[in-house]
Amino acid sequence: MSQSEHTIEALFDEGRTFPPPPDFAANAAVSSPEIYAEGDDTERFWGEEAERLEWRRRWDQVLDWSGAPFAKWFVGGKLNVTESCLDRHAATQPDRIAYHWEGEPGDTRSVTYAELLAEVCRLANGLAELGVGKGDRVAIYMGMVPELPVALLACARLGAPHSVVFGGFSADALADRINDAEAKALITCDGAWRAGAVVPLKDMADEALGRTPSIESVVVVRRTGSEVHMEPGRDHDYHELVSRQAGERPAVECDSEDLLYLLYTSGTTAKPKGIVHTCGGYLVGTATTYRMVFDARPERDVYWCTADIGWVTGHSYMVYGPLANGMTSVLYEGVPQYPDKDRFWDIVERYGVTILYTAPTAIRTFMKWGPEYPAKHDLSSLRLIGTVGEPINPEAWMWYRDTIGAGRTPVVDTWWQTETGQIMISPLPGLTTLKPGSATFPLPGVGADVVDEAGQSVPLGQGGYLTLTKPWPAMLRGIYGDPDRFVETYWRRFSKPEEGRWVYFAGDGAKRDLDGYFWLLGRVDDVMNVSGHRISTLEVESALVDHPAVAEAAVVGRLDERTGQAIAAFVTLKGARVGDDALIAELRDHVATRIGKIARPASIVFTDELPKTRSGKIMRRLLRDISEQRHLGDVTTLANADVVREIAARAAASTTTED
Ligand code: WTA
Repeated sequence: MSQSEHTIEALFDEGRTFPPPPDFAANAAVSSPEIYAEGDDTERFWGEEAERLEWRRRWDQVLDWSGAPFAKWFVGGKLNVTESCLDRHAATQPDRIAYHWEGEPGDTRSVTYAELLAEVCRLANGLAELGVGKGDRVAIYMGMVPELPVALLACARLGAPHSVVFGGFSADALADRINDAEAKALITCDGAWRAGAVVPLKDMADEALGRTPSIESVVVVRRTGSEVHMEPGRDHDYHELVSRQAGERPAVECDSEDLLYLLYTSGTTAKPKGIVHTCGGYLVGTATTYRMVFDARPERDVYWCTADIGWVTGHSYMVYGPLANGMTSVLYEGVPQYPDKDRFWDIVERYGVTILYTAPTAIRTFMKWGPEYPAKHDLSSLRLIGTVGEPINPEAWMWYRDTIGAGRTPVVDTWWQTETGQIMISPLPGLTTLKPGSATFPLPGVGADVVDEAGQSVPLGQGGYLTLTKPWPAMLRGIYGDPDRFVETYWRRFSKPEEGRWVYFAGDGAKRDLDGYFWLLGRVDDVMNVSGHRISTLEVESALVDHPAVAEAAVVGRLDERTGQAIAAFVTLKGARVGDDALIAELRDHVATRIGKIARPASIVFTDELPKTRSGKIMRRLLRDISEQRHLGDVTTLANADVVREIAARAAASTTTED
C-alpha cells in the first residue's frame, strides 16, 4: 500500500470534512450548485463565459471538435487578449493597482492599470521598432520584476507569441528552447536577486546566444546593476528603448486560434515539449476558472500567487487570469527565507493579502520552520488559500488551513497542468465541502474520469489513471512542430477514435472515494515532481551520460518529505574512473549546466552495473524501491540479481545533498 493510500483510509475513518463557512458561501462569486449542471452543456457554458471578455468580432461557433484531437475554440472570433486584460480596466478603473511588486532587497513599486497599459504599449512600440511583428516568437528569460508581465503582454499586444524560459534554467536549456521556437528576439535582465545573491541572467543568455542564429535583437532590463556585455547592434537597454516610445499602441487583431504562447515542459522523453496555447480559448479558460476558484472580487481583494511567471501557474494565474478579472495582485521577486523565514507572512500583512496561492512544497517547508514565523504577523486579511503543483498531504493541508488560514478560510487544492492551461479539478470555495488532501471535483464544464488499463471507468473507491473526457477551452492545441507526438503522448492510450471518443491522458494516477471525490496520486510516467517542478527522468539521465566519465545512468524520483520527490541517480562509470565525492559534485554541476540547478540529483550512487530485465530494460521501479528503502521482493526476473543487493547496500550508505 502506498503512503497516500494509507493516509486516505485514515482520513475516511476520521471523516474530516469542511463545508464552506456560511458567510463565505452567502457572498461567493459562485454560490449555486446549478453551475455543475450548466457545465454539462459544454458549448453553451463556455460560450456564456466568453461573453464577459472583449472581442473585436464575435465567434461563429464555440467549439469545432471535428478535427479531434486538434480543437478549435471560438471559431471565427477575433480579439487581442490585452484588450480584456488592460484596456477595459484602464478605461473604467485606471487607478486600481494591477501589481504591487516587491523586490527581494525590499524595494517596492506599485503599477496601476493605466500605467501598466502605457508601459505595455511602450515596450510593444520598442519591440516593433526592432522588427518584431505578428507571429514572431519572442523568448523571455527574466527574474520576477514588473517588466516580466509587461514583456508577456507587450508580445501579446503585437500578436507575437512569447516563450518564457524560467530564470532558473541553464544557458543550454535556454538555447534549446530558443532554437526549437526559432525566436527572433530575447528579452532578459542583467541579473536577478535570489537569496541575497545575483543570478547572472545576461551572462547565461550570452552563452546561449552563441548558438541561437534566429535571434536578431536582445532587450536587457537593468535590475541588479551588474556589469554585463552589450553586443552593439544586437543588444538594447530596455529603459533607453522604452523611454523614447509613446504610451499608446493599438492592439493587433488576432484570431481566436492564433498562437498566444509556447511554454516548454518536461515529458517522458529527453527533449522538452513546446506546449501550444492560443488566444481565445486560453483567455476564456483562465479568466473563468480564476473568477470561480478564487472567488474574485476585484474591488476588495489583494491576490498573491507565489509562483514564478516562468511556469504555467504564473502565466495563467499571475498574468492572464487575474488581469482579465481586473484584480490587484502582489508579485514578489525572491525566496521565502530572505532576509528571514517570515518574509511571506510579512508580505501578507503589509499588503493585506486576501487570497494566497502557493505550493505544497512551500507549505511543508513552512511547517518545518515552525509556527513562530507566521505567528509574528497579522494574517487576518486572508479569506481564501490555495495550492497547486503536486499532491498535498492531509497533514500539510490541515497545517495550512489552521496555521495560515486560522481554521477559517476555505482551501482550494487545484489540479491542472501546463497542457491544460487552466485549473481542471478544484473545489468551488462557496460550494464544495472540503476533504483535506483531495482536489475534490472537476470544475463545471470539465469532464474527468478515473480508468483502468483498458480505459474502463473504475468503480468508486478504486484507483487508476486520470483522464479528461471532453475538450476545454484552454487546452493545449499541440506540441510545437510535432503533431504526431501530441496525438501519441496525450490521446492514443485511452481514446476510441473509431467510436469518435477522444480521451486525454494526463499522466497522473488518481482515485475516487466513495463520495466521488478525486484524490491525485502523482505521476504514473517517467516525469518527476520535485518541489512542484516537472522534471523528466530521461532528461536528467541524458545530461548525466553526456558527461565523459559516465557510461550509463538511471534516474528515479524517490519520496521526499519536503520536496515531494527527490532525484536519485544511479551511475556506472567508464573505464577506470573512480566514483568519489569529487565526481558526485562534478556530475551535479554538469546537470546544472545542461538543464538547471533544479534538476541536480539529490543523491548519486555509483554502481558497476544497473539492474536490468533479461530483455535489457533498466528496472526503474526496483531502483525506486531501493531509494525508498523498501523491502525488495522477488528479483528473479533480473539478469543480474546480485547487482541489486550491492546497489541497495551502497544506496543505504549514500548521502543526500540538500540545496
Ligand atoms: C502535478 C502545474 C496533485 C500533476 C500547474 C500534474 C498536481 C503536474 C496538482 C503538472 C494538484 C499539479 N494535486 N498533483 N493539485 N497540481 N499537479 O505542468 O502531476 O508544471 O500532472 O503544471 O503537476 O505540472 P505542471
